[in-house]
Amino acid sequence: MALGSAVNQMFSGIASRYDFANRVLSLGLCVGWRNRLVKAVADLKPHNVADLATGSGDVAFALRRTLPPETEITGYDFCEPMLEIGRRRAQHENVALTFKVGDCMQLPIATESCDVVTIAYGVRNFENRAQGLSELARITRSGGTVLILEFSQPQIWFRPFHFIHVRLVLPIVAGLLTGDFGAYKYLGTSIADFPNAEGLSDELKKAGFAEVRVESMLFGTVALHRARK
Ligand SMILES: C[S@@+](CC[C@H](N)C(=O)[O-])C[C@H]1O[C@@H](n2cnc3c(N)ncnc32)[C@H](O)[C@@H]1O
Repeated sequence: MALGSAVNQMFSGIASRYDFANRVLSLGLCVGWRNRLVKAVADLKPHNVADLATGSGDVAFALRRTLPPETEITGYDFCEPMLEIGRRRAQHENVALTFKVGDCMQLPIATESCDVVTIAYGVRNFENRAQGLSELARITRSGGTVLILEFSQPQIWFRPFHFIHVRLVLPIVAGLLTGDFGAYKYLGTSIADFPNAEGLSDELKKAGFAEVRVESMLFGTVALHRARK
């Protein structure tokens, strides 16, 4: 099975338990990391934001709480069960958010139409990262910004602890929480195989971004890349 289809199927399987597992696995730290992303977006004062690989909309809801009501926010994901959770929550909380099906390999978004593009924990799952990053560059207007919140490679002294957490603790605890041991074994592997902050910056420049800035968090285990087109 192609990686894209396998990832889609995997998130369909854990959709209902995903948000809860995230909070527990990051010991709540993911909320602070997400808030940094949201603050960076608010500072840019965009008219529209596309939140890619939005999942159940964690980032989109946080953006909605912070950005002015006239800012248009649309979440895109290729996994319908994740989107459905976001749609139900938006309806329940009476929040103005739109969720659409969209594969980051070929997005249903016009060229150079987005002021800001956000993507949290999505790039790591791309079937073809070069193609996905080019697609992000295509939809971003000239002068616009892409913000990527993603796991990264930690400082050298922290690597043994990180390795044990990602390869052993995380798959077991997450497996117990979600009932899907396979999904979180994949998570560990995908984190370990992902480039470091500098590597992702180089890939973003190759994809067409002029300027890339990085903010590292938790000894480099998580990074926020800001790429300006
Ligand atoms: C780890 S979740 C992150 C969800 C959300 N951004 C968050 O911060 O909670 C990754 C999401 O990326 C989506 N995804 C992975 N590859 C994708 C692709 N090529 N196109 C669209 N969505 C994708 C998955 O379906 C899943 O919902």
